[in-house]
Parts: sequence; structure tokens; C-alpha cells
Amino acid sequence: MKEVVPSPPAIVRNDVAAVQSLFQQNVVPSYGRFDIVLSHGAGSYLYDVTGKRYLDLGGGIAVSSLGHAHPAIVEALAEQARKVIHSSNFYYHESQGRLAQSLVNLIGPGKCFFGNSGVEANEGLFKLARKFGHDEGRFEILTTINSFHGRTLAGIAATGQDKVKKGFEPMVPGFRQVPYNDLDAMTAALSPATVAIMVEGVQGEGGVTPATPEYLLGLRRLCNEKKLLLFMDGVQCGHFRTGRFQSFQRILEGIPNSFLPDGISMAKSLGGGFPIGAFWVRAPYADLLSAGTHGTTFGGSPLACSVSLSILQVIQRENLAENARRVGEYFKNGLLELRERYPAVVQNVRGLGLMIGLELTPNISMLPGESTKTQATRFANLLHSAGLLAIPAGTQILRFLPPLNLRQAEAEEGLKIIESVAAKLAA
Ligand SMILES: Cc1ncc(COP(=O)(O)O)c(C=O)c1O
Repeated sequence: MKEVVPSPPAIVRNDVAAVQSLFQQNVVPSYGRFDIVLSHGAGSYLYDVTGKRYLDLGGGIAVSSLGHAHPAIVEALAEQARKVIHSSNFYYHESQGRLAQSLVNLIGPGKCFFGNSGVEANEGLFKLARKFGHDEGRFEILTTINSFHGRTLAGIAATGQDKVKKGFEPMVPGFRQVPYNDLDAMTAALSPATVAIMVEGVQGEGGVTPATPEYLLGLRRLCNEKKLLLFMDGVQCGHFRTGRFQSFQRILEGIPNSFLPDGISMAKSLGGGFPIGAFWVRAPYADLLSAGTHGTTFGGSPLACSVSLSILQVIQRENLAENARRVGEYFKNGLLELRERYPAVVQNVRGLGLMIGLELTPNISMLPGESTKTQATRFANLLHSAGLLAIPAGTQILRFLPPLNLRQAEAEEGLKIIESVAAKLAA
């Protein structure tokens, strides 16, 4: 006989305070959340439980590559769920193989491993480096100041920001940070134990700072000379966000080179909101992690890979790399104009494609909110009230990481909202 399950208590609807109180009582308070309770999304917009609409230029921190409720993702989820959601990595399935092949085609000769998040992708590369250097006693991985590589113990040891490490010492050994975009500092920091270098092509959490072409080419030379692995963390800046699949492809555009890193981590936009992470490893090192040395239960499930493949299809069919480049340029130019008009509010604008940072001018006197909160958070609050979502980075920077299919009209709407906020603060 069918078991009768008692009906759950009524879902709390349209009640901001009630939802917040559920969190306060039951959810670990490890995030500083904004006072917004979301209900649903469509395209580039999110709606809260009171019916207010937000233009989502934060994209769930560079995740919602096709925006919200995109039919291709919905269909891939439903169709694959009807076949098989999960089968484990004891067996083969077609979608993991096809996704790996797509990523290899987009990057270069090598192989892929699938996990569930960005930090797990980085962790896989860290293990790969340890395996590579093991017999020579080399284990140290150099990363950069202001980098962000995730929140596990190895992730925070790799991250170049004290605030993520504080309270969790002692750090996992074998990670050191040096200034970004500074080849001399990297060279000087090498020790006999160094085995790998990891950098972001565009530092995201650290404030949207692209690597220079000279830096990337110099790192490649250095790694070749010293027999080090060169890893790029493409978790935030990858997946066509800069206008090319990986940021180094965009940064080195027009410069004759045969640059390839030895490993690239990916996540975020790869699944458009469905959790999936991956790393690609260059061919000579692709079999280092042999059977039994690395794994994860959910990694590369049929469901995750089908969603990811469907996203790649849409990106290619609709040429969203070009869209990210064109609409990104339009949006960035608009922000640069705002810097001209409101220098007391906007100090700097930088980024590539649809990964753009707006640096606020220090000490904006009219900025409301508690002085204990950063300027970036207080400015984000004003944007939210005006109907736009953006992501704070550090104390002074707002990040725009919208869907790759953002329309120019939506970018224009965003610029108008940002201008309305800037104009009030400059008045
Ligand atoms: C560059 C970079 N690497 C790694 C991570 C960690 O990814 P995840 O939060 O999926 O573990 C992030 C997350 O923001 C990131 O921006």
C-alpha cells in the first residue's frame, strides 16, 4: 500500500521576516546576506517575494551563464532526470565523455576531471601538483596576493587574502603568495620545493584585475625553465565571460604565441546554476592521477554533464562569446562615462567582456548605511533598492558578472540605474 506522508507545514510566502527568521534559527550564519528574499527568476531578472524585480547583473557570482529559467537548461534537466540522474564513476556514460571532449576542444590537448565546485577543481590541481613533484620532494604552490581560490583548508591556504584565513590557522603547508602581475616577485619567490604556480587570468574577488600578456607569457617561460606546472584558476573568469572560452585566450589575443597552461580549473558558469566543477590538465600530465588516486561521488554526473553540454550548445549557437564581448564593451564604456560625470563616486572601471569592476571613490560622504559596513556593501544596497543586483568585491569594488546572453537594452537599463544612484550621491 502506498505510504501516506503527512503534509509539510505551509510554506512561508511573501513574508520576508518569516523567511529571515527561519535562517536565523536554522542556518549557520557564515554569510553576510542582504535583506532580499528571492522568489524566482526569468532571463536576466530576479524577483523577490514582494514582487519587486531586479536586473541581475551579479549573475549569482558569475554562475547564471544563460540567465534564469532558460528553457535549454530546464529541458536538459528534465530530459536527463527522466533517464538517469546519477550512476557513480564506477561506470561510463556518454555525457561526461562528450563534455570532456568539448572542453578539450575549447582549450587544447589534454583530459578533464569532474567535481562539483570551484574549490574542488582547484583542490584536484593541487593534488596533481603534489603527485607531479612527489618523488623529488617538491610540493610548494605559489599563488598571488588578492587571489581567491575557495574556502576549503587548501583553498584558503592558496588564497591571497588574510580575511579568509583568519581564525583557521595553522594553514595547510605548501602555499605562499606573491604580488600579482609581478614576474620578478614570482621568480624571486621560487624555492627548491616549488612545484607549481596558480594564478587567475582576471582576479575576481580581488577586484577584477586582468593579468597582463607579458605576465602570462613570462610565467610560462619560468615554469618551462624550472620544471613547474602552471595552473590557471578559471572558475570565475572562464567560460566565455571575457569573450573567449578562457581568459588567457582573450588576454593573449593578437599576440603570436602558443601559450597553454598545464591545468585550468572551472566551475560557476559551466553549470549555469547546476553545481559542477572541472579541471583540464595538459596532455603530458593527463594520466598522473591514475585509478584510485582521486575521485568524488557526484562528480560529472549524467545530469550535471547534460546541463553543461546544453549550455555550451546555446553559447555556440547564439555566439554568446561575441555577445559578452560586445555588450561588455558597451556596458564598460557606459561606466567609464559615469566616471567622467561622477568622479566623486566612481574612481575606476576595469575588466574584460562581461566581467567588470567599478571601483568607488574613497569616502563618499553621502553614502548611507552603517559605517561598519564597507562602501561596496552600502553602494550595493542602494543599487538593490533601485532594482539592480551587483556583487561587492573587497571594500570598494562592485562586480558585474551578468548572464552571457545579457541584451544591450538590459545593459542600458543597468547603466541608467547605476547613474541614478551615482547622481544622488554626487548631488
Ligand atoms: C577564482 C575563484 N576560484 C575558486 C572559487 C571557489 O569556487 P566555489 O565557491 O565553487 O568552490 C571562486 C569562487 O568565487 C573563485 O572566484
